[in-house]
Amino acid sequence: MTERTIFWDYESKSISLIDQTLLPAEYRIKSCSTVEELAEAIRRLEVRGAPALGVAGGLGIALSAAISESSDASGIIADLRRDALILKATRPTAVNLAWGIERVLKAAEACSTPEEIQKAALSEAEAVGDEDAAMCREIGKNGAELLPDKCTVLTHCNAGALACSEWGTALGVIRSACKAGKEVSVISCETRPLNQGSRLTAFELSRDNIPVKTITDSSAAMLMRKGVIDAVIVGADRITDDAVFNKIGTYMHAVCAKHHNIPFYVAAPYSTFDSELSEADVEIELRARDELAFCGDKMLMPDGVEALNYAFDPTPMNLITAVITEKGVLKPPFERTDLLPGRRDI
Ligand code: MRU
Repeated sequence: MTERTIFWDYESKSISLIDQTLLPAEYRIKSCSTVEELAEAIRRLEVRGAPALGVAGGLGIALSAAISESSDASGIIADLRRDALILKATRPTAVNLAWGIERVLKAAEACSTPEEIQKAALSEAEAVGDEDAAMCREIGKNGAELLPDKCTVLTHCNAGALACSEWGTALGVIRSACKAGKEVSVISCETRPLNQGSRLTAFELSRDNIPVKTITDSSAAMLMRKGVIDAVIVGADRITDDAVFNKIGTYMHAVCAKHHNIPFYVAAPYSTFDSELSEADVEIELRARDELAFCGDKMLMPDGVEALNYAFDPTPMNLITAVITEKGVLKPPFERTDLLPGRRDI
């Protein structure tokens, strides 16, 4: 899969994105021509995955600049700051969203005319997307070297092309390993309740002819015990100095992997690092009850029963074998000094 997940449409001055809620049944490009439309697309997970959210946030600021009705630079900057707050509030856990927004806002704030602001915002937002694509290739190359020539890898959620600009982080490692001639087959956890694993990971890997089987999330421990899994690779939404936040269920896989002596790898760009924070500082997104209570129209829970629908969990660093980044592979001990220099570089 090499097409872009989210990009600027020059003709209609809007943001185009693959609507991931419709996959795998339908592949449809959706257009967002207002910031509120984009914010809703992010809330609904039409665009999702930490690096893709960074690009979405950046393009959202470029969109705000393109459609602002203010006639002077200070008015446009005020509009951008208002829209930055709207976009940041959509999803709290993936740090890339706020990072992409801030990066483009900063580029716009350095300009002095409306035309300059529009141009700088769009070019910075597109740079976020282009750099992400390049970083994923580097992550892929660095991670591929860690995998045996023939192996089965378990992954959770979707840390693939759909979650990034293209190529992917965890799935980028798998793609790069396959490209290097390794025989990799994938076990994709379905990832309840929104099924990013069965809908999206299975979709993009099968499209690339990479062998993939979907399992229920609760099958992972048994398959590890049977010796079927050689490595686990997941992506990340935020890496603090003491934990990796990723899709709910990741922690469970990390505990099981440690118990069975299976390497547990996290693949993520430096834009996902937030090393100045610790686990307790991060807000974990709590999503709507209906995501658990219904499957389409079918009721899965009695009326009146509450749900506790956390979207992410933190995995402590002591369960992680290595963090694969675009700049190299970080291994324990994960000292703050290991993680911080990269953060300062961005
Ligand atoms: O709720 P989602 O689908 O946005 O969650 C996504 C994940 O947890 C991914 O694993 C993570 O963003 C890494 S993407 C390369």
